[in-house]
Amino acid sequence: MDFAAQVKNSVDIVKTIGEYVRLKKSGAGPRFVGLCPFHSEKTPSFSVHGGHQFFYCFGCQEKGDVFSFIMKIEGLDFAGALKLIAERNGIPIPKRTPSSSREEHARSALAEMHKIAEALFRENLSSPAGAEARAYLAKRGVDARTIERFGLGFSDPSGQQLLRRLESQGFPHDLLESSGLVRARENSSGFYDYFRGRLMFPIHSEAGETIAFGGRALRDADQPKYLNSPETPLYRKSATLYNLSRARAAIRKHDRVVLVEGYMDVIGVSSAGVEEVVASCGTALTADQVRAMRRHTDRVVVNFDPDAAGEKAAERSIELLIHGGLRVQVLSLNEDLDPDEYVKQNGVEMYRSRLDASPKFFHWLFDRARARFGSETVDQRIEAWKYVLPSIQRIPDRIERAAVAGDAADFLSIDRAMVLDQLRKAPGAPETAQKPLAREIAAPVRERLLLKSLLAGQEARAAVLPRLASPELLDGLAMRPLFEAVLAASLDGACSYQAVEGRLPESHRALLAELCLADEGIGAEEALHQALECVSELEQQAAKMQRATLKNQIKDMTRRGDHAEAMKLITQLNALERGPARAETGD
Ligand code: UTP
Ligand code: MN
Repeated sequence: MDFAAQVKNSVDIVKTIGEYVRLKKSGAGPRFVGLCPFHSEKTPSFSVHGGHQFFYCFGCQEKGDVFSFIMKIEGLDFAGALKLIAERNGIPIPKRTPSSSREEHARSALAEMHKIAEALFRENLSSPAGAEARAYLAKRGVDARTIERFGLGFSDPSGQQLLRRLESQGFPHDLLESSGLVRARENSSGFYDYFRGRLMFPIHSEAGETIAFGGRALRDADQPKYLNSPETPLYRKSATLYNLSRARAAIRKHDRVVLVEGYMDVIGVSSAGVEEVVASCGTALTADQVRAMRRHTDRVVVNFDPDAAGEKAAERSIELLIHGGLRVQVLSLNEDLDPDEYVKQNGVEMYRSRLDASPKFFHWLFDRARARFGSETVDQRIEAWKYVLPSIQRIPDRIERAAVAGDAADFLSIDRAMVLDQLRKAPGAPETAQKPLAREIAAPVRERLLLKSLLAGQEARAAVLPRLASPELLDGLAMRPLFEAVLAASLDGACSYQAVEGRLPESHRALLAELCLADEGIGAEEALHQALECVSELEQQAAKMQRATLKNQIKDMTRRGDHAEAMKLITQLNALERGPARAETGD
């Protein structure tokens, strides 16, 4: 068995995907469902089959095995995915693994460079050169354990240290440049370190690999306050959330995520004990980041800096969260403190109770509207209503939209009927469109059952495949390519789901996945029984068709006066009626 097959056999796709997607058992078979990580949806159409070890999304038709899942979600090629899965499961990787593509080569070199950089920055922080940075951290109440946990470091001010280190390790210059860790000089030849004299925050992928850095200036005069790694083949800002790799378990445990603005907020809040906290990395929140959160929970508490929550960027973030199917609560710490400072001043218990009691987004919004426009006069209340209306209109779900509008009316003391009437007149947001199901190919029930039993049991295949191989039977089957693939796969000795899928034209792969997910799994004995029954019925059906065709042809020939041909056909018909008659009365 080659290494890839060995890895695949020893890992469970349900467990692997379960690290990224909250999966729920569905029905009696080994089937699990969850929200698709590859497209936006609110009701789960993403399925994982533990028996056949594949995943399939009824919404976007994304599908594959454990390798394709990791490739897609981590942005790796096959060799990279294989390596990651093996490492995570403690499977020793042989010296000669499948050869990597050029991109994968570059990618692992970049990852290696980030590892080296992180180690160097950490070394610096505890060396004499790190004295100022250490003093700064101490002033901000960051202890040694937290420094260790978040891998904080310090970049040498010279601008040469990391460059030298990476050069000495033999990384070529084009790779150095694409890492974002060093830059080419503009006016002369040579390179220099991108991060100089800064407090360094490593940024990790969801899998926990260091893929970028944020560097904070130690003095106010140094600008910008934070310098962040540029986008690289390793680092897609829009898809990365700071601290998600560490927070993931806590997010699931508490079934909520706390979204803050800054690296320091994450560190302060998390080290105090609220570990389910993430931040976007110096950019406005994106739909990809929302989706990453949504894979682990559907509840988010947005805790932006004081007064930031009312700003355009924050409103836009909240809108994205709602659109992405998250239930949003908003925590405004109006004491003019950011989350980090608040925890330091008031303690984590106080902070936690503020989180727990934070209002739902719309109640928070109504509060703001009332505070802003007043609620004494009808005019004021109408102004407040106009202020909240656009947000309500953007709720994608029609029923929810009406419910929230009703709430607003009560809260702002305006007439419910008027509110609902206005809402009806104003166009709402479009409901999220979903691609239609892949099912354009007919899948008659007999054929479906037969296919299922063939995939389920070796005995069923041994008993039925020879009968199925007859062209008269195969020709009449609506799902013929699927049965041909099963036949071919068993001839080659391996009739696994993947082997069958591999022999199918792309047009029929989604159908195979959908059929395997459609109903409960069956045992080997039942499979044999069911296969025999189905194949007999299909044979009868095929024979009936054949007889009908022959009878038509005989009629035709007789009408044309071609009696010789008609006699030939009649002989055929008689032979046919003698043959399968046995099947018609049952075996
Ligand atoms: P903040 O200025 O609130 O930073 O910016 P902070 O993390 O709370 O740090 P302290 O408490 O002031 O030390 C919030 C986030 O915005 C991004 C960073 O991700 C930062 O954590 N940012 C900010 C930048 O990317 N560049 C900047 O110049 C400033
Ligand atoms: Mn701050």
